[in-house]
Amino acid sequence: MRRTRTQVGIVGAGPAGLVLGHLLAREGIDAVILEAKSRAYVEQRQRAGVLEHDVVRLLRDVGLGKRLDAIGMIHDGIHLQFAGERHRLDFRALCGRSVTVYAQTDIVKDVVADRLVRALPLELEVEDVALHDVASAAPHISYRSADGEACELACDVIAGCDGFHGPSRAQIPSALQKTWERAYPYAWLGILADVAPSTDELIYAHHPDGFALHSMRSPRVSRLYLQVAEDESLDAWPDARVWDALDTRFALPGWRLERGPVREKGITAMRSFVSAPMRYGRLFLAGDAAHIVPPTGAKGLNLAIADVVLLAQALVALLRNGDESLVDRYSETCLSRVWACTQFSTWMTSMLHTAPGKDGFGAELQLAQLRQVVSSKAAATALAERYTGIPLPRV
Ligand code: APR
Ligand code: PHB
Repeated sequence: MRRTRTQVGIVGAGPAGLVLGHLLAREGIDAVILEAKSRAYVEQRQRAGVLEHDVVRLLRDVGLGKRLDAIGMIHDGIHLQFAGERHRLDFRALCGRSVTVYAQTDIVKDVVADRLVRALPLELEVEDVALHDVASAAPHISYRSADGEACELACDVIAGCDGFHGPSRAQIPSALQKTWERAYPYAWLGILADVAPSTDELIYAHHPDGFALHSMRSPRVSRLYLQVAEDESLDAWPDARVWDALDTRFALPGWRLERGPVREKGITAMRSFVSAPMRYGRLFLAGDAAHIVPPTGAKGLNLAIADVVLLAQALVALLRNGDESLVDRYSETCLSRVWACTQFSTWMTSMLHTAPGKDGFGAELQLAQLRQVVSSKAAATALAERYTGIPLPRV
């Protein structure tokens, strides 16, 4: 048995765990990150790609801005398309803020590279991770290392950054835990294509056939999504059918969607999920381990980073000064932002997607809502404020 000790044991090397480790290291707090998958897997998994205004500022402030500034694409607005017309929402004019298109995979690569250069502990391909005594002052994590050795990591606190399916959340006794869940009767089929985006800014399109989103990853790589049935099979969607459906849903006189080789194709289920509290004793949950939002509005990654900014501040106060005030407020502070983003994501989702079956009344309400967003400055500003993100504390 290999026994080691650290101040913060972090389960999961997604954006939440990695950015938390990075923020703690800057404050001189030791952490060990344990991850079940390989480096290639965590660096390649296609996920989100839009960063809020303050998330970009934060990454820059903590030394993660080099590639972000070099290849991130600043967007001052989005396009909303419905009833055959495309309307631009100018975030910069409405609320003085912007978003940046920069892939989650790139954030993961940046933090992993920095961690390896500085020889900070990151154990990949570990198995059988189990959390113990999280309600006590001496929690620990048992696991098997990549080379099969049984290990035990003693910690002052544990950060459960292990996503929706990780083991951390189940440590909170069910009598103390409350969860909320909503399933949506549709899914997103996403493609990554080697073709220059046909748009300068993201297009969110409402269409009777279903929602479509034109996003991007770089000046040469497009990311596109189509609303499909929740039980849809990928086999039913050869590339040509995907492009044809995208053509129909984005159709606009004088505009053309360029096609290119499809590098990746996948289907993502849509759901909302919130679990509270986000702290139990010496265990703190962050990111998808505690909450999932539907992807419309691009909040998942931004919420995960907001959680760990608050968590890092709270843990520094606790571990450096024995000050428990921030850890005591951690769950409540996070959940207020989580519910605000859940509200926004649910609203965007229900405004833009076509409900299965014929719901003519619902479709007219959606169009009325969309017309209000593009014609009322107050309504447009409300969307712009939420899309570009609730302000984050400075680190
Ligand atoms: N042991 C070790 N690691 C684990 C375990 C386990 N038992 N279970 C899960 N993990 C790892 C996963 O392999 C994954 O790398 O935890 C990590 C969790 O990362 P994410 O799922 O990316 O979650 P998070 O860091 O909270 O980031 C949220 O990801 O899904 C997107 O839209 C979401 O963009 C948001 C972001
Ligand atoms: C993406 O680029 O993956 C993306 C962008 C905006 C969204 C959701 C996903 O609302």
